[in-house]
Amino acid sequence: MYEIVYTSLATRDFTQDELTALLDHARRANQARGITGMMIYRKREFLQLLEGEQAVVQALYERIALDERHHQMAKIWDGPITARSFEGWEMAFVAPGDDSLQSHPGYRDLMERGLIAASGDSTGKKLLLSLRDDFLGGR
Ligand SMILES: Cc1cc2nc3c(=O)[nH]c(=O)nc-3n(C[C@H](O)[C@H](O)[C@H](O)COP(=O)(O)O)c2cc1C
Repeated sequence: MYEIVYTSLATRDFTQDELTALLDHARRANQARGITGMMIYRKREFLQLLEGEQAVVQALYERIALDERHHQMAKIWDGPITARSFEGWEMAFVAPGDDSLQSHPGYRDLMERGLIAASGDSTGKKLLLSLRDDFLGGR
């Protein structure tokens, strides 16, 4: 088992419909490939974690890198894992608005500096896991 965490910048604003279409496709494809993970989108910034078999995760990462809907892709962490953090999630998704962030303590940095800056200091994983726990609850 292996995981990659990266950030990227949307080449333009995504509409809700465009995000939904991206996620629908990703979830179907991920299910077929045994990929799970989580994606956050906020103010044109993406943070995504992909987990699964190493060769499958790396091939997907390289394909995502070719996608013209985003650019400035930066890998912030990759390595082996002993267990999935997103078991059962073909691609969990959070697009937190300022209102929802404000009601949870601890996201001031994310609000003020933006998703990429706030996740770049660490592996991004801490942020993903706290958003998972605070915003997604159960499956
Ligand atoms: C930010 C972002 C995240 C994406 N995440 C995934 C993903 O988790 N799984 C996936 O199959 N495609 C994902 N895609 C779409 C791929 O870039 C690409 O469109 C898709 O893999 C091609 O589909 P295919 O399965 O027909 O090859 C993502 C695209 C973007 C812009």
